[in-house]
Amino acid sequence: MTLNKVTCVGGGLIGAGWAAHFMRAGLDVVVHDQSAERRDFLMATIEKAMPTLEKLGLADGASPARVRFTTDLAEALADTGFVQESATEDVDAKTALIAQIDALTREDVVIASSSSGFLAENLRSRARHPERVIIGHPFNPPFLVPLVEIAGGALARKAADSATAFYRSTGCEVVELEREIDGYIGNRIQFAVLREVLYLLSQEVADLEAIDRAIATGPAIRWAVMGPSSVFFLGARDPSLYGEFVDLLAHELESGYTAPPSFQPDKALMRKYADEVVRGIGSRGQADLMDLRNAGVAGIRKALARARADSEKSAS
Ligand SMILES: NC(=O)c1ccc[n+]([C@@H]2O[C@H](COP(=O)([O-])OP(=O)(O)OC[C@H]3O[C@@H](n4cnc5c(N)ncnc54)[C@H](O)[C@@H]3O)[C@@H](O)[C@H]2O)c1
Repeated sequence: MTLNKVTCVGGGLIGAGWAAHFMRAGLDVVVHDQSAERRDFLMATIEKAMPTLEKLGLADGASPARVRFTTDLAEALADTGFVQESATEDVDAKTALIAQIDALTREDVVIASSSSGFLAENLRSRARHPERVIIGHPFNPPFLVPLVEIAGGALARKAADSATAFYRSTGCEVVELEREIDGYIGNRIQFAVLREVLYLLSQEVADLEAIDRAIATGPAIRWAVMGPSSVFFLGARDPSLYGEFVDLLAHELESGYTAPPSFQPDKALMRKYADEVVRGIGSRGQADLMDLRNAGVAGIRKALARARADSEKSAS
């Protein structure tokens, strides 16, 4: 799919991360934010991401010089081919902003919202052309994590198909929801895990550093390769035993392997959680952790691409 200019509306953490991703794909990128201070943040984000982007591979012609910033929304949207909206998560403000974007762009241009959980059904409600507004939900940072979740496609088939083709052409993995639901897929799973982490903390089972390590070096190292259902499938010695294995999972779900349904983290627990993250895991700030995340995930993506190619070769 050929498309030259992309507009990122909202230039915070996610908007700047999208700009770095689209830049790596060799596109002209214009970033708009209402705050002029985001210009420096954008340029710093791209500069810091460069080693990672190079590791992942730059498309022909990709260059930070092709990323521009403006506080003028109309200028940012002039002749654009795709809009990625990543403004603050506020449903009324986003709905109003999307209506503005809709009024300022050609009607065949897709408007994708990075929203972490709102329904496209709400966000498109004030647009003249609601059928081109969808959710295109990334994971932080979009230049590193390949998944983008598309939601709202049932009432915007053409837009969802063209967004899928566009995102794939830039190197994203696309998963489309058949039906919209708050939080989509990835965040619902992340929140289920967070709920369990908070429960373990409330029960003083381990500190957050140990819980993080138990997730990262245990279940999650496999989740980077395949999802939990594929992982569980390999938990049975033989496929014919998988029914029995699932009975065991059902028993474990019933017998207290997860937080009780009545568990609701209160304000005091959330405060304790925030304090422990900042004083423990986060005590050295974010820079080192970010470098580790970027180098680690880029390395995993490269290794996975090789492992998948080997697996396909040996299967054929
Ligand atoms: N932070 C994450 O991990 C994450 C992950 C996936 C999706 N998201 C979603 O991405 C979106 C942006 O989140 P973020 O973390 O980048 O927030 P952020 O606060 O870092 O950035 C939001 C930016 O939007 C700008 N903005 C607000 N209203 C605007 C308007 N009307 N016009 C232009 N710019 C405007 C703000 O000035 C700010 O720079 C949210 O919808 C969020 O739910 C966030």
